[in-house]
Amino acid sequence: MYAFFEDDLRTNYETLRQILDEHYPDSAVHFAVKANYNLGVLSVLRDAGCKAEAYARCELTATRRAGFDAEDVLLTGMNRALEDIERALEWGVSRLLVDNAAELEKIIVAADATGTTPDVLICGNPAMDVPTHPGVATATRESKFGLDIESGRAMAVAEAAVESDAVSLAGVQLHVGSQIRGVEPYGVAAREMLGFAGRIRDELDVEIDVLHLGGGFPVPYDEDVPATEDIVEHIAETIRGTCADLDLAEPKLFVEPGRRLVGNAGTYLATVGVVKETPYADFAVLDGGTNAVSSHWPYPVYAPKDRKPTRKYHVAGPLCYTGDVISEDVALPELGPGDLVAVDKIGAYSLGSASHTNAEPKPPVVLVRSDGTHECLRTRETCEDVLGRDRSEDGL
Ligand SMILES: Cc1ncc(COP(=O)(O)O)c(C=O)c1O
Repeated sequence: MYAFFEDDLRTNYETLRQILDEHYPDSAVHFAVKANYNLGVLSVLRDAGCKAEAYARCELTATRRAGFDAEDVLLTGMNRALEDIERALEWGVSRLLVDNAAELEKIIVAADATGTTPDVLICGNPAMDVPTHPGVATATRESKFGLDIESGRAMAVAEAAVESDAVSLAGVQLHVGSQIRGVEPYGVAAREMLGFAGRIRDELDVEIDVLHLGGGFPVPYDEDVPATEDIVEHIAETIRGTCADLDLAEPKLFVEPGRRLVGNAGTYLATVGVVKETPYADFAVLDGGTNAVSSHWPYPVYAPKDRKPTRKYHVAGPLCYTGDVISEDVALPELGPGDLVAVDKIGAYSLGSASHTNAEPKPPVVLVRSDGTHECLRTRETCEDVLGRDRSEDGL
């Protein structure tokens, strides 16, 4: 079972908002819906005042069902269906990110078809060094994201946007990556993108209004990571300094964090079924594993029991592959069948990356309200959810 905590969700958003109010008030926070698209979680963040960044398709539907105003939704995506863009524009979404030239063409077609004139933000890629897990680094030379600035590709798309009457060039965007372990990459990103904005002004005679620096604010799993306040302060100082140097008006700042708003607000609770001793380790085998908990990060694992840790376990799932181990050498109390184990800080990306490996149904979701009550936000899947869309032809 996933448990998400309303109090943490609200506190995370409100803390970030306060930090921005202190250091750069002309700013907006869009929650990166990909980090957790559960409708209850989205509703809590929306109610707290947060806006949303949605990848097209079902994330767009999720923001709508969770009650966001279209005006508060940013549409992202590097290969959106034309119908998705039209659907967003018809609903009233008015800001879209542009990852590549073909996407801009689609937005122009959709804008013409819907009689709208959306704002577009050009996603740059300044080929940076990004201190994080390579699987979640975005602003690198090797990444598929964004338009290369150095070669002129980003400027060519900006120019096409300026030449079109169907869209308005409103800003520049760069998402550095996820779980960024330093403040300096944000300074580099701000300088690079403001430099690009300066060139847009010089070459295309357009002043951009929005500097969008993506998400990536880290969550402390088991390591020291920079405090959000230090990151925001560094961003604010860099923007002010760079704008002064380039004689640019200070832009509105957008951020679209996912992990930082929901990461610590979720816990996965599973039950020990088997304790298995091997010559190598003692395995505590749970009734769910890497099918429910996303990879990459060393989540804290607890046994919510009033007993001291006395033994080290490899905490594993039940799936039929060797890598189905959530954490190794975890100090826990003596465990037995029926004991609960909590895998903490899994609020970001676990729900979205939960899989049907071994045809396992996905776990239910519970929201723990600020007043201590709880409610089921999503019921446990059944075999029908896993297999119900398959066809089994006669004679096979
Ligand atoms: C474009 C974009 N924005 C924001 C995010 C959110 O990143 P994080 O959860 O690290 O804040 C991502 C994550 O993949 C992303 O690709």
